[in-house]
Amino acid sequence: MAEGPRMRTYVITGGTDGMGRGLGLHFLRRGDRVIAVASGETKGRAFLAEADRLGAADRAVYVRADLSAVAGMRRTIDEVMGVTDAVDGLVFGAQRFRPEREETEDGLEFTFALAYLSRFVIGHGLMEHLERADAAVIMNIAGPGGMPGKINWDDLQFREGYKGMRAAMQASRCNDLLGVGFAARHPAARTRYVLYNPGFVATAMADPLPQPQRAVTKALARFFATPVDKAIVPIAGLLDDPPGPVVTAFKRGTPLSLTGKDFDPAAAERLHQVTTDLLAPITARDQT
Ligand SMILES: NC(=O)c1ccc[n+]([C@@H]2O[C@H](COP(=O)([O-])OP(=O)(O)OC[C@H]3O[C@@H](n4cnc5c(N)ncnc54)[C@H](OP(=O)(O)O)[C@@H]3O)[C@@H](O)[C@H]2O)c1
Repeated sequence: MAEGPRMRTYVITGGTDGMGRGLGLHFLRRGDRVIAVASGETKGRAFLAEADRLGAADRAVYVRADLSAVAGMRRTIDEVMGVTDAVDGLVFGAQRFRPEREETEDGLEFTFALAYLSRFVIGHGLMEHLERADAAVIMNIAGPGGMPGKINWDDLQFREGYKGMRAAMQASRCNDLLGVGFAARHPAARTRYVLYNPGFVATAMADPLPQPQRAVTKALARFFATPVDKAIVPIAGLLDDPPGPVVTAFKRGTPLSLTGKDFDPAAAERLHQVTTDLLAPITARDQT
């Protein structure tokens, strides 16, 4: 008897809301396994209830972890390893805008930790599991080719001059370099790294904004934002049919050139080194 299609396993940070949830339910509907990671209990329970409604309760896992904390990032890796030997798709979609500067339990600025560092730690931490899959993809949903922003090299943690938008844009630029650094570090990898800018999508993204920006963004979203169901189509397509090159970038499904300062290999190497140095004392602390 012919074998049916193999069940694939997707790990999705921010898998309980917005595009992460949309992708997770899409994969559950077609028979795959989804490990959704997020910090809140209510949305986690709602995700599992929806999976149950779809008849996919045995293929849906919710990992509750605060991905702004290195301990939460590492626990996520451990939990995934406890569920599966191979990961076909690793989607990074966890985000939370912070209008005011906040520090995590590791003494890092929250946006840097959640929107960039968690992708660095989990991506590298699950590399062996990704390489065991036939054609794995790391899908980093961020903002390549979008709004400008720069890396504040002298003060990555924004101890001075914090603005929520500046921190968010810095995290986006860090993610551009994370993709470029991946290709340099794993030139022979079977896993593909995709940097993806979805444009303006109607999600819970605006909820943490202060007024009046929240009301304005939500009003604009009604007219100009892409609905989640539509925004995830090209993302799911790239996960199903990975691009040829090790790293690629797309804006709403259109390929972007990986030239220019946002994708500078020397800056990618510098960021890798700085990030490794930042993590070293946190790792040492957690091992004592
Ligand atoms: N929406 C847009 O217009 C847009 C535009 C460009 C790029 N993007 C990018 O696309 C990705 C997905 O965005 P979205 O708008 O779909 O997201 P969203 O609807 O705002 O959902 C965010 C997800 O992240 C989780 N999360 C928040 N804080 C967390 C924490 N500390 N630890 C773990 N999980 C946490 C949330 O669950 P909990 O709150 O329960 O933890 C939720 O599941 C993000 O990377 C975003 O930067 C979005």
